[in-house]
Amino acid sequence: MESEKKERVAPPPHHVLVLPFPVQGHINPMLQFAKRLASTASGIFRVTLATTVFFSETVQVKLTGGSVRLDTISDGYDRGGFMEAATPEAYHRRLDEVGSRTLVKLIERHKGSDRPFTCLIYDTSMHWALDVAAGLGLTGVAFYTQSCAAFAIYYYAYQGRLRLAVEPSEEGGRRTLSFPGLPPLSVSDLPSLLFEEGSSYEPVLSLKTKQFSNLDKADSVLFNTTQELESEVVSVLKGFWPVKTIGPTLPFMYLDETSSGTSREEDKDYGYNYYKPSSTNYIAWLDSKPEGSVAYVSFGSIAATSERQMAELAWGLRDSGVYFIWVVRASEQQKLPKEFAAETEERGLVVTWCNQLQVLAHGATGCFVTHCGWNSVLEALSLGVPMVGVPQWTDQPTNAKYVEDVWGVGVRAKADQEGVVRREEMETCVRQVLEGTSRRGEEIRSNARKWREMVKGAVREGGSSDKNMQEFVGELVNSDL
Ligand code: UDX
Repeated sequence: MESEKKERVAPPPHHVLVLPFPVQGHINPMLQFAKRLASTASGIFRVTLATTVFFSETVQVKLTGGSVRLDTISDGYDRGGFMEAATPEAYHRRLDEVGSRTLVKLIERHKGSDRPFTCLIYDTSMHWALDVAAGLGLTGVAFYTQSCAAFAIYYYAYQGRLRLAVEPSEEGGRRTLSFPGLPPLSVSDLPSLLFEEGSSYEPVLSLKTKQFSNLDKADSVLFNTTQELESEVVSVLKGFWPVKTIGPTLPFMYLDETSSGTSREEDKDYGYNYYKPSSTNYIAWLDSKPEGSVAYVSFGSIAATSERQMAELAWGLRDSGVYFIWVVRASEQQKLPKEFAAETEERGLVVTWCNQLQVLAHGATGCFVTHCGWNSVLEALSLGVPMVGVPQWTDQPTNAKYVEDVWGVGVRAKADQEGVVRREEMETCVRQVLEGTSRRGEEIRSNARKWREMVKGAVREGGSSDKNMQEFVGELVNSDL
């Protein structure tokens, strides 16, 4: 009896450390994954999420229910995070150096405890973390937070099969590139980092290619996508690494109403928000609008839109005559045309930040005008919201290509020679997708419903992502990894 009691309270043998790259679009999906891991293998694992001192102190990371613990490493910028760094390059150099040092300290601090870390699941943007894991005898699992397609393109670039620094204007976006597992791509479909030569984004590109330098040592490589969304490229990548698609890592309440996975209480809080949602009651505003009548507009947490692009977007939304809710972060608000608020107050609502999942899941939301960040695309796919893609940089053009041509769940707005989407184009795209009266519009809406079911099916019991997650957990438990 006594020994039985002891067995029941024995600490879980596996302690998994989850380490996301410290920005909103990476912490979000990895936190959701951490929660899922903790609930999937309830009682078997202890899961700790490590983020930087800056993010842990200045951002409320609510982990209701306590299934995931929080710990910290340092990026060397404890007071201001990446905003404090002089250049992206300086940030990454310091993160590599201080991050790896403090990660070693964190792991070693737990070594003497009754629950030492046994596995590190690291964001591939911090390739050095895998070396730390290997050096300290931990299982090392890579996690990629964007699409398999973007990953494959960066890999082909790393191998030298893609000429870097191609000027899009030289090629005019006309040349078609063929790569295993990918649809025919034009230069303008590639991640922008590949042709922004000499820009301040070079360190980011170097991050994207460095991630392959030691990836062969990873025990498993996880992707926040589903097999169905990217089947061909997933098959190709499986030939190189032990790949598993386990996405989308959205809270279960948005994916599977019947799930007993993470609790609703935990799900209600999407976990992590760098920005505070606006105090405007945008849900009440949406409640007052007809079904499928509102265009939701957001360009994510990083993109800085040019003043001209902002004005064209603004006037395009006005001219479309539809209802819209537009997320314009506080730092971007001064770019809005002066007369815009007065001219659109009847139809539009501008907020500084919102709970995007709640907005996308609302019945009044009929389309999503998006920069095509991977999280936004996955969220729209999961909730069946058709998209108007206005990609800005990094992986977004590739995501927009898939939205328009591979899944057929939206259109990509065409930019002029200066890269600006004009108001007429904006108006046409929004009306086509939102009103859905044309044949193309109807197809888009029907595809969006089809993919919603496909994506939800992947995470339900027995679906492709669910099976992969169970397999992954099994491998960890049996220490096959
Ligand atoms: C970054 C890159 O820019 C993107 O290209 C890459 O694919 C992921 O990392 P970000 O630009 O922030 O991400 O875009 P996205 O991936 O779409 O992530 C934004 C997240 O913020 C989403 O999860 C979205 O739900 C959330 N969000 C956005 C809100 O919760 N509220 C908002 O008002 C806007």
